Amino acid sequence: MDAPEPIDGAAELFALDPGVAHLNHGSYGAVPREVRRAQAALRAEQEADPDGFFLELPGRVAATRTAIAPLLGTDPAGLALLGNVTEAVAVALDSIPFAPGDEILVTDHGYGVVNRAAERRAAECGAGVRTVPVALDAADPGEAVLAALGPRTRAVVVDRVTSPTAREFATRELVAALAARGVITLVDAAHAPGMLDPQLDAAVGGPDFWFGNLHKWAFAPRPTAVLAVAPAWRERVRPLTYSWEHEGGYPGNVEWRGTADYTGWLAAPVGLALMERLGVARVREHNERLAAYGQALLVERAGLGALPGSPGVSMRAVRLPAGVAEREEQVRPLMAAVRERLGARIAVRPWAGGGVLRISAQVYNRAEEYERLADGLKGVLGG
Ligand SMILES: Cc1ncc(COP(=O)(O)O)c(C=O)c1O
Repeated sequence: MDAPEPIDGAAELFALDPGVAHLNHGSYGAVPREVRRAQAALRAEQEADPDGFFLELPGRVAATRTAIAPLLGTDPAGLALLGNVTEAVAVALDSIPFAPGDEILVTDHGYGVVNRAAERRAAECGAGVRTVPVALDAADPGEAVLAALGPRTRAVVVDRVTSPTAREFATRELVAALAARGVITLVDAAHAPGMLDPQLDAAVGGPDFWFGNLHKWAFAPRPTAVLAVAPAWRERVRPLTYSWEHEGGYPGNVEWRGTADYTGWLAAPVGLALMERLGVARVREHNERLAAYGQALLVERAGLGALPGSPGVSMRAVRLPAGVAEREEQVRPLMAAVRERLGARIAVRPWAGGGVLRISAQVYNRAEEYERLADGLKGVLGG
């Protein structure tokens, strides 16, 4: 398998330490220099006239939603800006009136904090959470979810792209099938904005709640997330805090959390413009091919087990040998050893039978970085 042609000048768009192979874009993203400059200019504006800045802020936030909506292929009326997916999932879960005995389904590929948020909400309502195991090599991970539905399943949380395993769930089909059975759908699309077509349009039977980060794959400042709420739920959304704009209802009621730094949201469209300039299709194709190239090297040179990839996804996962990273406490030392000995940042998640190592690919990455990781990993795993 060949690596894609590098995107000239892309690495210089970021201020990443050139001595490190940043192969974990999926966890925290990386903010391009020009987006940081735009945010710095907004902060300067804020400090020059705080009163004026905050008085005009609601209008500017509304304009930002409108600017972001085309990337998400949706109507800005359903969108709210939030700090991150962690907040967004809490808003969504809090807005659903679960009854005692109700069940929330999550999967074992779900993000740990999201699954724990479901547990907390369920416990408050006397409801329960069931975790659906999805085989690491499942051809269609959504099948396991549909097969697991029970008579008391009230809501399902599914990922568009899974964090530990970098798999895409066919959420459009899954959401339609769940909605037909009267099940409330929450789509954790933390990785979708910028990476994939978001598929959240209500016209095609959209999910009840959909949330994604813009600071992962859409070049936005950290933290910037979007929550999209289906029309039927908008009046019932329960904000995490009570603030100004509360009386006006959704989306202002979830966006405002008092005096805070909202400049990241306002600078987010600069990241989208950069992506357009680089070419959205070119960026996506580059990233997908580079991640697949990196995975192939990890299989061929480091002898790790390939896990299925998903088209369009800029991350790939491989299986570590049995005994490695099976437990949470083994993960950090392994990631630290890879950083110290190979100068690379990767993501590792514990998994019974051998942990899962995930690599990401972004425009700043180069084939040599994955080659270095693949060539050195056996030594690190060997002790
Ligand atoms: C699938 C998924 N959901 C949720 C999150 C949480 O995102 P945040 O930390 O920005 O709230 C992540 C972060 O990596 C994720 O990968």
